[in-house]
Amino acid sequence: MRREGFSGRVGLIAAAAGSAIGLGNIWKFPYILGRNGGGAFLIVYLICIAIIGLPLVLTEFAIGRKGQANAVQAFENIMPKKKFWKFAGTLSMITSFIILSFYSMIAGWVFAYMFKYMTGSLSKVPVSGLTDYFNNLAGSYEPIFWTVVVLAITAFIVHSGIKDGIEKCSKILMPVLLVLLGVLMVRSLTLDGAMEGIKFLFKPNFSSLDGKAFLEALAHCFYSLSIGLGILITFGSYTSKEEDIPKVALSLTLADTGIALIAGLVIFPAVFAYGFEPTAGVGLIFMTIPAVFNEMPLGTLFGSLFFLAVGVAAITSTTSLLEVATSVVTEKFNISRTKAVVMLTALLGALSVLSILSFGDLSDVTIFGKTFFDIFDFSTEKIFLPAVGLMTCLFAGWVWKPKNVEEELCCGGNSTFKLSKIYSFIIKFVAPVAIICIFLYFSGIYKIFS
Ligand code: PHE
Repeated sequence: MRREGFSGRVGLIAAAAGSAIGLGNIWKFPYILGRNGGGAFLIVYLICIAIIGLPLVLTEFAIGRKGQANAVQAFENIMPKKKFWKFAGTLSMITSFIILSFYSMIAGWVFAYMFKYMTGSLSKVPVSGLTDYFNNLAGSYEPIFWTVVVLAITAFIVHSGIKDGIEKCSKILMPVLLVLLGVLMVRSLTLDGAMEGIKFLFKPNFSSLDGKAFLEALAHCFYSLSIGLGILITFGSYTSKEEDIPKVALSLTLADTGIALIAGLVIFPAVFAYGFEPTAGVGLIFMTIPAVFNEMPLGTLFGSLFFLAVGVAAITSTTSLLEVATSVVTEKFNISRTKAVVMLTALLGALSVLSILSFGDLSDVTIFGKTFFDIFDFSTEKIFLPAVGLMTCLFAGWVWKPKNVEEELCCGGNSTFKLSKIYSFIIKFVAPVAIICIFLYFSGIYKIFS
């Protein structure tokens, strides 16, 4: 059976950017930046993206295109005798599945806010009541409904296929997102007091930069580029042999980082203009941003547009997350896409309830002081994701070997890859060491030695 694929470069870039650009850029990046001292963190993050993120994006695309299969099978197709590496694919599938279970909850909050703006009810909440408003919403059963909405849209798109589903939807939604963010950025930058926010974003404050900030930057670089989840491997397998992967990888990395910066320019000038704390954390876009809109003229309109933008960004990421497991299940068990999507979505719905109730009925149920949501969030982003990243580096650097990766990147010699020495050094040494550091730190193991 011929595998379905993207229609061409634009389709691939749109789909990959759709995956990479998501809540991580608009929701998470601004708040971890806020927590870690603004501009100084930004510099570290950019270094991580260039040195580790980009080479890993290249590697995942190359593995997928060479292996011509889903994330689990691709490793085996490349090295049939080395069965161990398949495990990287399996772990990536499990991780993407768990991430999707809580990612769709957060996307659900976003949809709820969008709806409440459009109907005008949220713009009536006084600024002082927004924190309670968010906590009440998150603690209620309402997010179950919105999560189901998100999962249903996601399932519908994924079931429609690669070209007609994922690619088409990204090609339409990515430009929409850009326009929406552009409008919002102009609005935010023209507020009185916006300069403070720009300073915060770009002026490095190195005193608040510690080892933890480095590791957070590195972990976020994986998350934001959708590395370590088999997504880029899966997408690579849908890519034609003639495609210039380095160009695609560079465009993807620039687009992802560019949107994170634009999101920062939407959020921080507004945060400072209205005297809020930039370190508000997780609730930044659910408490601070509505406050801004509720104060400004035409706030209902801008609020609706903002949450529409975030919702759009989230949906193109959830579809890519679901595609990983869908491609494994359809190819492994030889069942139809629709069947696979329905089964997986039902399972996801059940799992997501645990995260949703972590903010309500199950908020007291903790393991090592962490709720279900915290555990899912922590274990996937800080442990599994880097673990798959590490295995991918070791596979490419020491098992499959950089020269073969490079050959795949050069389309079998039809083009050249100029950074081959640097790539090989990074994938063999720099990236693995950096990832091991994330592990030791976030798992707490380092404390044993200190
Ligand atoms: N990269 C997405 C974001 O920035 C999140 C994501 C992670 C999506 C992993 C898919 C896979 O929001």
